[in-house]
Amino acid sequence: MVQHNKEDQIPQEPALSRAAFGDSFSWGVSTAAYQVEGAHEAEGKGASIWDIFSGLKGKVKQNHNGNLACDFFNRYPDDLQLMQSLSIPNFRFSLSWARLLPDGYGRVNSAGLAYYDRLIDHCLELGINPWVTLYHWDLPHALEKKGGWTNRDIVGWFQEYVALCAKHYGDRVKHWMVLNEPMVFTGAGYFLGVHAPGRRGFGSFIPAVHHASMCQAEGGRTLRSMLPDAEIGTTFSCSHVEPLRPQEKDIKAAKRVDALLNRLFIEPSLGLGYPLDDLKFMRRIEKYIKPEDEQDLQFDFDFIGIQNYTREVVKYSFWTPFMQANLVPPRKRKVPQTLMKWEVYPEGIYHILHKYSQYKGIKKIIITENGAAFPDQLADGQVHDPERVTFLQQYLQQVLRAKQEGANVHGYFVWSFVDNFEWAEGYDPRFGLVHVDFETLQRTVKSSGYWYRDFLEG
Ligand code: BGC
Repeated sequence: MVQHNKEDQIPQEPALSRAAFGDSFSWGVSTAAYQVEGAHEAEGKGASIWDIFSGLKGKVKQNHNGNLACDFFNRYPDDLQLMQSLSIPNFRFSLSWARLLPDGYGRVNSAGLAYYDRLIDHCLELGINPWVTLYHWDLPHALEKKGGWTNRDIVGWFQEYVALCAKHYGDRVKHWMVLNEPMVFTGAGYFLGVHAPGRRGFGSFIPAVHHASMCQAEGGRTLRSMLPDAEIGTTFSCSHVEPLRPQEKDIKAAKRVDALLNRLFIEPSLGLGYPLDDLKFMRRIEKYIKPEDEQDLQFDFDFIGIQNYTREVVKYSFWTPFMQANLVPPRKRKVPQTLMKWEVYPEGIYHILHKYSQYKGIKKIIITENGAAFPDQLADGQVHDPERVTFLQQYLQQVLRAKQEGANVHGYFVWSFVDNFEWAEGYDPRFGLVHVDFETLQRTVKSSGYWYRDFLEG
């Protein structure tokens, strides 16, 4: 009789390999224009709200800015070469609206158009598929002067920008994402004031939410009408939310946080409207909704991009206005965290995948961002980042588990390809598979980059 040892009785996790995800699963890496390009004034580019915000003292840690960033604008041929050498088949990046339309609408900057032509063509020459995000937070400053996301005219401005991109790049770009994380750019930019343009309060936040939702759907419609064969998506920041204690007050507080973080933007696009039953304080959004908007908020995206890093644990708080809920940080719970003070919680991505798979209207899910910032050190020309390798392996393991249980997930992109400008945190939190020395701009592939290559090569 065969002797079984203890381990044999533990249910085995599915073996982690590229093949286990199937041939049609899309693998890639992500970046965003302001975080990597630099060249903030080059060749006729207009200023964006991040150019202005990061120039104000004290807004970004150590007063860092994206003026040079990774100089991807000039170095993209070498970076794409590196990407190809790591066997990465898909590259998600964003277009800078102000590089293409310096005033936000009207006058087109042909040098900006030509830059993205070169970038897209180069991707294709190297066999890398470009996945384009239209808006990753760098609104033209000229539009912010007119009210930015709080001005309903943004629906028309955005439509013009999307149409320009579709007309110009649609022959070569087959995968599009309309917005990057609307909850973050409205919440951090128009409610908390910690991101550009630095506005605070409900008076800015509520209309920004509605207009971003309108643009999300309008952008989808514009792309679909001009590019009927393209795969059209949009992306959301999503975190699995749990109550701290199994008490009704914490459970209800967690439900409110879940509605705000995970449901506010997806549900109107699916025809479910804003989740106002759980977010009563947001009822004043109705003031901004015109009768025809209910219909116009809807769009049947070909895919939904979910971006997951952590989970949130929530506690009822009498003193916190509106939400009456507080997030309990990982430090207080004594659980592992990254440099961003985000909990490392791989099961979170599993729960989020199941949660989103339950929405009937979602055709498919792509994980358009997942990754972590750890204190990487360059030593002897190498960056050894075992924590990131473990993080990626553990999260992918949970993606595979969810997929094998029927979750509707079809792709995974690491955030990020290279270390870059991490918004209000400056350059210190490094998320890249490739290290960037911000003095010399030299690139060094980290051990996580080599791990990803080996994983992709099977
Ligand atoms: C954003 C990225 C950001 C990353 C890490 C996402 O919220 O889309 O731009 O760098 O998370 O914070």
